[in-house]
Amino acid sequence: MVRLDVRDVAVHKGYLDAAAQAGLIEALRPVLKAAPLFSPVTPQGKPMSVRMTSAGRYGWVSDSAGYRYATQHPAGGAWPAIPDAVLRIWSQLTGETRPPDCCLINYYGEGARMGLHQDKDEADFGYPVVSVSLGDDGLFRIGNTTRGGKTESVWLSSGDAVVMGGAARLIFHGVDRIRFRSSRLLPRGGRLNLTLRVVD
Ligand code: SIN
Ligand code: MN
Repeated sequence: MVRLDVRDVAVHKGYLDAAAQAGLIEALRPVLKAAPLFSPVTPQGKPMSVRMTSAGRYGWVSDSAGYRYATQHPAGGAWPAIPDAVLRIWSQLTGETRPPDCCLINYYGEGARMGLHQDKDEADFGYPVVSVSLGDDGLFRIGNTTRGGKTESVWLSSGDAVVMGGAARLIFHGVDRIRFRSSRLLPRGGRLNLTLRVVD
């Protein structure tokens, strides 16, 4: 495992070995069954190319009413619990005793991307954001804490983890593209990203 610091963002390359990645996929299977991926639209009505769902007390949703945390899946019902294996990653990487409230699960199929944005719908930016990549490689772009300026990019591979905390908590970030079918972890290809956050 190698740790790179890119603009104060800690990138832990190879954080999860192959067995841990496969274990996480098994742990996520019932979560995705209970809370199926849905296709969000931006508040401006534009379909997002990623599909998403969540686990935890809160899920993150986007529709014509805006970006927000919600206690229910858009189809109804509470979100499933965050798997223990995911909670362990949070505590190992952050040392926080408070568990995350939300595990956002983004699925990137062929051609999916995510524009540069800040994670800023949370109440307390003193808690870091942890993200875990599974499946196909994704080109992660890291900007600044204000919009604009130079950016740097790093390929995230299956098993890599990223921590955005401290000076980097509100840094702009996004995913420009994925290398579809670069990994064999997901039988149908694609990239899963788990984002862990304390919400309220
Ligand atoms: C996100 O910022 O919501 C996702 C980041 C990623 O997919 O790596
Ligand atoms: Mn984000």
